[in-house]
Amino acid sequence: MQYGYFDDATQEYVIFRPDTPASWVNYLGTDQYCAIVSNNASGYGFHKSPKSGRMLRFRFNSVPTDRPGRYFYIKDRDDGDTWSVTWQPVAKPFSVRGKSADGKAAGPDLAEYECRHAPGTSRFICRYKGIEAEARAFVPDGENAEVWSVTLSNHGSSPKTLDLFGYVEWCFWHIQQDAMNFQYILYTCRMGEVDGIIDYALRLWPFEEPRAFFASTERVESFDTDREVFLGNYRHEGQPVAVENGRCQNSLAVGGTPCGALHHVVHLAPGESKTITFIAGVGDARTDGKRLRSYYQSAGAVERELDKVKQYWQSRLSALAMSTPDPAVNSMGNVWNQVQCQTTFNWSRSASFNEAGGRDGLGFRDSCQDVLGVLHSIPELVRPRLVELLRAQHSFGAAMHHVQPLTWTQGAHNVTPPHFSDDHLWLLLAIPAYLRETGDYALLDQSVEYADVGNGSVYEHLKMALEFSWNNRGPHGLCLGLAADWNDCLNLKGRGETIFSTFLFLRAINEFLELCGTLGRGESDVTHFKAYKAELLTKIREYGWDGQWFVRGYVDSGKKIGSAESHGSTIFLNAQSWAVLGEAAEPERLVAAMDAVHAHLATEHGAVLNAPSYVDHDAEVGAITTFPGGLKENGGIFCHANTWPVVAEAMLGRADLAFKLYRAFLPAAKNDTADVYSMEPYAYAQFITGKDHPYKFGRARNSWLTGTATWAFVALSQYILGVRPDYNGLIVDPQVPSTWSNYQVTRRFRGATYQIDVVGTGNITQVLIDGKQLLVTPGAKVHLPVAAPGSTVQVRIQRSESTR
Ligand code: GLC
Repeated sequence: MQYGYFDDATQEYVIFRPDTPASWVNYLGTDQYCAIVSNNASGYGFHKSPKSGRMLRFRFNSVPTDRPGRYFYIKDRDDGDTWSVTWQPVAKPFSVRGKSADGKAAGPDLAEYECRHAPGTSRFICRYKGIEAEARAFVPDGENAEVWSVTLSNHGSSPKTLDLFGYVEWCFWHIQQDAMNFQYILYTCRMGEVDGIIDYALRLWPFEEPRAFFASTERVESFDTDREVFLGNYRHEGQPVAVENGRCQNSLAVGGTPCGALHHVVHLAPGESKTITFIAGVGDARTDGKRLRSYYQSAGAVERELDKVKQYWQSRLSALAMSTPDPAVNSMGNVWNQVQCQTTFNWSRSASFNEAGGRDGLGFRDSCQDVLGVLHSIPELVRPRLVELLRAQHSFGAAMHHVQPLTWTQGAHNVTPPHFSDDHLWLLLAIPAYLRETGDYALLDQSVEYADVGNGSVYEHLKMALEFSWNNRGPHGLCLGLAADWNDCLNLKGRGETIFSTFLFLRAINEFLELCGTLGRGESDVTHFKAYKAELLTKIREYGWDGQWFVRGYVDSGKKIGSAESHGSTIFLNAQSWAVLGEAAEPERLVAAMDAVHAHLATEHGAVLNAPSYVDHDAEVGAITTFPGGLKENGGIFCHANTWPVVAEAMLGRADLAFKLYRAFLPAAKNDTADVYSMEPYAYAQFITGKDHPYKFGRARNSWLTGTATWAFVALSQYILGVRPDYNGLIVDPQVPSTWSNYQVTRRFRGATYQIDVVGTGNITQVLIDGKQLLVTPGAKVHLPVAAPGSTVQVRIQRSESTR
């Protein structure tokens, strides 16, 4: 069943049926003020930190779901009928494309709702009894505020008098206090009203006086700042007593639970429209509130600001555009996958409808990976992020698992174990990727302090990361598991070893060797790390192969995990895909390992992380054994880990298999079965329930903030479409399905724009750059040289079987 569709022309995802199986959200704002907004306008807003800058409240895992939000209530004075611009919270019976929700013909008393999420904006439309209400929501560029511009239009034949109420619920800024410390926090606010603007003020110990405001651009008829007064006792957002009464009480909360409610009266002649713009923002009502109110009272302000938001996103999305024969790929690749990459880059894993924001800052491994999905569009912002991450690496090579740049000081961090076996190694993917994208090799010589003591060049940081892994190997010469590897729930204590981190270590060494080789530096380092590599390859040959696939590792007692002889799971996905990414064995073995993925792990919704799922609780294996089979890291279809087999198959040249794996978990491909998939068809989720679950196979959970975003984009753009940066130019290595007879990619690279047209389906036979032939070895990939900044390069790549 469908709830919406992609409108590629406007870059919107349009939800025409409001009772989506879960909240389908959008992120408004950039990296300073962020509003998370569902298709029913629920969600929260925060400034800089979702942990300590939470301005608008959301109740997680609550009943009813999806509350509270920014709600706009309408009351018709003629008959007292009341509804909201979004379906929730009043929840009128609704029609869907002219029919009632149960598919029968609709009557005139059904409301029709539409939500249009676009990059940086969301638009909500309600049509009910001749009144059309529209709310346009966005965070203006450079402001710490969210704007909701509400337009009411009378399409009926008689004049209307409507009460319009705008409503927000304030949060007490510090999420832990807000959620737990009621004996204190409920006695801190001092609400005010300044010339029709709601003034949210409170004092917090020690000495903080955060402020926020809620303003509107028309004369305020009445207001409330006390939630209890506006909603009424034993009521909820769906039935506020103030709306029922047709006015607020002008309540000024002194302590208690503050809200912001502004009431307006709107008279509309037939055919007439009126707009009232509401602004909820950080700052003082007297200054910021008044300034923004008067700005939005000026003609064209909303359109002007919406335009700026659009331009902001255009500048980011236009760095890479694609046109392929598959509409689901285009909708994701051109717009939504890229939007999600920008969002994970901004907010790491801190703030979503699943991550309640109690932990802000950057997950080390997560943020190292998140840069890969935005490098093509904002390399200038990636550089400082990399430096932030490098500062969280200790002088002995390991990294802090979690970084809080807002409060970072050198030396103030715990340097004692447990460390993770993978965190530091991701630097060796992130930094070479940055260098390939930008050619900014000077970064390698920049000195960056270590988290504990001293400093070193970036180049030295990278070497220390490799040394840490070398110094932390177990009895079989493989990397120790330590606290965990990429799989947070595989906790191999003591002498437990992980093949994933061993393969990642190999990949990191390969990256380092390639870097040195290309830049002609570090001759002795090359010899040194080549010896590490040779030793690792020997140990992998001896202890890594299980006969038909690679083992996942060894537990403390020496037993294998992910082996045909193991108790519990006998095969793991990451152990096969990363063998390829780490080039850990000869091609035949890598192919066999990937064949095992298709035979034992792949399903129609993606490949499960391990099979069969663990049933017994096993302390030697770790937290993975706490989940029921099919959920999360225990037999779930972990989407992040599903991107790597795509890359692996593309690396092995098995293009059809790569695409089959890619499309199995592509959200846009779930649009028509959204009732089963349940999460947003335009955003990747952390996992899809696996086949071992008794009844939820195919249901996604935990959308938006997942490493899936970055890697799915890398897999699609760099490995399937095959356009990837290299130190000396741009590589084109098409690994698209054999049914695609052509596709186009436009890609910004080091200031030039490459317009690449790939035609045909077989080996590359001819390459034309601006009409001139480039010499190519038949069957090999193409290396496009670096072009002059500002130039546009036309590239035509001919493959052997051309259909045009
Ligand atoms: C979550 C974490 C990520 C981890 C993954 C697998 O997505 O954010 O760091 O790698 O789970 O456990």
